[in-house]
Amino acid sequence: MTTVLRTRAELAATLGPLPGRLAVVMTMGALHPGHETLLRAARERADVVLATIFVNPLQFGPNEDFDRYPRTLEADLAICRAAGVDAVFAPSREELYPGGEPIVRVTGGDLGEELEGASRPGFFTGVLTVVLKLLNLVRPDVAIFGEKDYQQLTLVRRMVRDLELDVEIAGVPTVREPDGLALSSRNRYLSTEERASALRLSAALRAGAAAAGAGRGADGALAAAHRAFGEGTTGAKLDYLVLTDPELGPAPVTGPARMLVAAWVGGTRLIDNVPVELAPVSVPVATPPGG
Ligand code: PAF
Repeated sequence: MTTVLRTRAELAATLGPLPGRLAVVMTMGALHPGHETLLRAARERADVVLATIFVNPLQFGPNEDFDRYPRTLEADLAICRAAGVDAVFAPSREELYPGGEPIVRVTGGDLGEELEGASRPGFFTGVLTVVLKLLNLVRPDVAIFGEKDYQQLTLVRRMVRDLELDVEIAGVPTVREPDGLALSSRNRYLSTEERASALRLSAALRAGAAAAGAGRGADGALAAAHRAFGEGTTGAKLDYLVLTDPELGPAPVTGPARMLVAAWVGGTRLIDNVPVELAPVSVPVATPPGG
């Protein structure tokens, strides 16, 4: 049975007596099979699984989609029940921010201002602040986050390390449609035509990862990704396409790396990323004259 908790008092009363290891999956609702994978990963790692559902106003800019963000609580609860979630904490805005929006917030430093942070000022401050608040209210042993929001996952890990939080953070690989589109709550904004354009993001990442693996180096990988994205020829408008190390620092010459992309498709901003293995650069063997 999945218990629905609306207040912090109900949350405390439910969690207090629970024995065993507790996992939390934080969401903004509009759950899809990607979230189900996170819930299943939580189930495998703990005795008790709690999901949170809260559309956090702090992480939306003034011109972003806070008002139209899908709110589908009944369907979300059905998914949680089917995934064997023990409790869902779905507080109101007033319950989570009783004195209004918090004055003291957590920032992600320079890393929080790059990539997503550059296009969405204040986004990671909103995310990290609510994540820390929820970690403090729930006190889980492990918190599960999707790799789909890779910069978010990286910053949450950094926050845990930098602020000495006593919680394990587990990342779960992105779930994709058979044609490569990364699952996202915002995919439901896309028209049929836009959905086809949205495939440019995963196509770019596939091409980049393949070129990296074939020894074309960081520049070759990025060039292949840009070609596959096809800026100007499709309905997708690139925001960024970068290659970094796994912690979002400068890309290495060889070894594990991460390629990340963000683009606008119509009025919808989409992000995606993949792990990349940069193979040693293969130098083409020069053919001798007449050879
Ligand atoms: O990834 C999300 O859905 C949100 O950013 C999170 C972690 C639930 C914080 O509001």
